[in-house]
Amino acid sequence: MCGIVGYVGHRNALDILIKGLERLEYRGYDSAGVSLVENSDVKVFKCKGKVADLKKELEGQDTKGSTGIGHTRWATHGAPNDVNAHPHYSSDSKLAMVHNGIIENYEALKAQLIEKGHVFHSETDTEVFIHFIEQIQKDNDCELDRAVRIALNEVVGAYAIVITSKDNPGQLVAARKGSPLVIGVGEDEFFLASDATPIVEYTKNVVYIKDEEVVLLKDGNMTITDIKNVVQTPYLQTLELELEAIEKGGYDHFMMKEIMEQPKSVADCLRGRVIANKNHVKLGGIINHFDDLLNANRIVIVACGTSWHAGLVAEYIIEELVRIPVEVEYASEFRYRNPIIGKGDVMIAISQSGETADTLAAMSLAESKGATVIGVCNVVGSSIARNSHEGAYTHAGPEIGVASTKAFTAQLTVLTTMALMLAKEKGSLTEAQLHDLLVEFESIPAKIEKVLQVDDAVKEMSALYKDAKNFLYLGRGFNFPVALEGALKLKEISYIHAEGYPAAEMKHGPIALIDEEMPVVVIATRDSSYDKVVSNLQEVKARSGRVIAIVTEGDALIPSMVDHVIEVPDTHEVLMPMISCIPLQLLSYHIAVMRGCNVDQPRNLAKSVTVE
Ligand code: F6R
Repeated sequence: MCGIVGYVGHRNALDILIKGLERLEYRGYDSAGVSLVENSDVKVFKCKGKVADLKKELEGQDTKGSTGIGHTRWATHGAPNDVNAHPHYSSDSKLAMVHNGIIENYEALKAQLIEKGHVFHSETDTEVFIHFIEQIQKDNDCELDRAVRIALNEVVGAYAIVITSKDNPGQLVAARKGSPLVIGVGEDEFFLASDATPIVEYTKNVVYIKDEEVVLLKDGNMTITDIKNVVQTPYLQTLELELEAIEKGGYDHFMMKEIMEQPKSVADCLRGRVIANKNHVKLGGIINHFDDLLNANRIVIVACGTSWHAGLVAEYIIEELVRIPVEVEYASEFRYRNPIIGKGDVMIAISQSGETADTLAAMSLAESKGATVIGVCNVVGSSIARNSHEGAYTHAGPEIGVASTKAFTAQLTVLTTMALMLAKEKGSLTEAQLHDLLVEFESIPAKIEKVLQVDDAVKEMSALYKDAKNFLYLGRGFNFPVALEGALKLKEISYIHAEGYPAAEMKHGPIALIDEEMPVVVIATRDSSYDKVVSNLQEVKARSGRVIAIVTEGDALIPSMVDHVIEVPDTHEVLMPMISCIPLQLLSYHIAVMRGCNVDQPRNLAKSVTVE
């Protein structure tokens, strides 16, 4: 949700800023802008639209400067237009700032500043924020970093900010609370960004800024203090990210690359955790709180979007294999509904980005009531990873396409591993049952590889349905959350209205929608719900619905009943969601491409939702 970059050093800042913004564009793409400082001149260039539009805007301009900041925006306050785009200036034009987050008390601050004569041009909280800092600097006649510390003691909300100053051309001041910020440390130069992707090609030495820390980068030195001005020791880490992981690698879109990467990402996620011939199943990251999980009164899973769907699959798996009660909650609902949770309960927070504001808030609520919090995140060092008692990474590698694909299957891999680890310890499965499941689990990457071969067939079918106005997705049992996920994938990238339903619920309402215009995707793999799903599928056909069925290889019954079948390899039903979701990812991808949609950057969405 908004991407921030910054550079101070000896190179031309603009090249680094633009490349960085292109890498961060998945975080928001309503508008973009940069500010460059040279010879005590702060220049700001910004516009509505994408980084490509900004590049056009910059043609022929004087863009010299070896200090600069940049921003790609996902609008919160104010429409996406040129004026609301970042960076924002102070009223004396001495300071320019980029900001990710929301300042909740900005209206009150704005009223105070207007009384002091400030004039605002945009509708943003950010413009108020930088005017506020400017006013503090004037009132206290102090350095910028001190003014920022004073301001941060007054503002309420979340932020990652970076500020340039006319008075100190070779300086950047940055701070964060609730929104991520990483500093890359080079030779007499520093790179700043919302995540490490813009930094990795320049340096692998990074410092993740913590909440309420203020950073001064000046004359090749980095000074970090907290907002009370207590000096902090930076913790220098080495990035494990490789440049190839954040490039498209020959694919037209990140989403397709990420779909195709799933055999590898699931294998990476299993590595060292599941070894069938030793009946070994272990997530090293949760061992200190494993007993809490094992003896939990109740497990409460919180997440949003696709991660919530992974949580729903986990509910089915844990209850089936371990017999511990599980509840799955939307983080945004949980945090505001005075939930019953306390000591003896365990919360599992699932998040690809590790930065989702609602999930973070739900976690801190659970923690404050005495529950143990386990994080399942993809982004290493993210806020959710850092704010959990313990956790397990999904190791899917950077997911850049806004629609989540490989992160989902990696989440399922971690959550299934967790369930099997619990089942082993609890003895809720026999040794033989556990062994068979682990053997099957190890075969999942190869089975994903196989199911990906349906790509051409799915593409062909997509051409027939690309103009549909609505889609229905049905599944039962372990495949019900897959139906929800299939519908979400389609609507978010192709803008076709789609709904996922438990197949049997269809006759309680959605069946009224079915006619020959309505494609219905039915996940009908051979499992304990198979016969029931076949009946549901016949109910659709009886009303002339067009059925695309996802079936187990060799299914002899369903092909004669439906319009299309897509075969997937057989597996144990608890593992099937990792396979049955793949054709649905491909279907949404191809339909979106055929409709001319921007698959990697669907309208109105952002990859990392750091506001509630
Ligand atoms: C859908 C999608 C979103 C995210 C949701 C949670 O494809 O990407 O629904 O799943 O915003 O994000 P994380 O997992 O980062 O907490």
